[in-house]
Amino acid sequence: MKAERRPIVAVTAYDYASAVAVDQAGVDLILVGDSLGTVILGHRDTLAVTLDEMLHHTRAVTRGARHALVVGDMPFMSYPDPAEAVRSGGRFFKETGVAAVKLEGGGPVQVACVKALVEQGMPVVAHLGFTPQRIHEFGGYRVQGRTDEAADRMVHEAGLLEEAGAAALVLELVPPALAQRITADLGIPTIGIGAGPHCDGQIQVFHDLVGLFTDHVPKHAARYASLHAEIKLAVERYGADVRAGTFDTASSPA
Ligand code: KIV
Repeated sequence: MKAERRPIVAVTAYDYASAVAVDQAGVDLILVGDSLGTVILGHRDTLAVTLDEMLHHTRAVTRGARHALVVGDMPFMSYPDPAEAVRSGGRFFKETGVAAVKLEGGGPVQVACVKALVEQGMPVVAHLGFTPQRIHEFGGYRVQGRTDEAADRMVHEAGLLEEAGAAALVLELVPPALAQRITADLGIPTIGIGAGPHCDGQIQVFHDLVGLFTDHVPKHAARYASLHAEIKLAVERYGADVRAGTFDTASSPA
């Protein structure tokens, strides 16, 4: 798709029903992101998410996705070294039916993990910029690669990840000019989130896209619906009907 300049449409999903909906909407890629820690499980960040939780949700998504390529997100501490990365990645492929896994970071350990996974036949999507599993190191949700030095480091790491065999690269919270530079440098596609319009594709968190999560709405979230408000209204109407004694499934409004 990069070679044909066809933008890649990617979105997260965490369960069967949303996977069926986004798959039927024709997305190219579904990421079962560890963002499920916040939007599904209600944690403050993604660090508490376990490998077993990721596998459980990923199985539901692969059951629902008929066409899109499903990528499973390797959670925090499931790839502290290449051997463990291969064990964790192996569980994704054996137990869920994903087509690729994703991991965050471009340091020597992560590059070695990518290489080890790819050597075992497991495609890997890499992830640079703001990598949520390092939120404590970054001190919050901050754009990365703002200084020349940080930008050069990211360009270098992107090259190393491609060399290690990464199939694609997510760029999160990266200045658009830097995302454009990395996109031009690499043969593999970049998929941006809060990284401007120049990436080879875009990814959004499902709950942000459809307005289903209102605790924290990132600046880069694109909202195409307001499902939280719609659900609340529907349940309020249902409650009112039950309380008024007018609830009747035979004549339900929908
Ligand atoms: O976990 C996730 O949803 C992600 C995307 C934001 C890229 O990593």
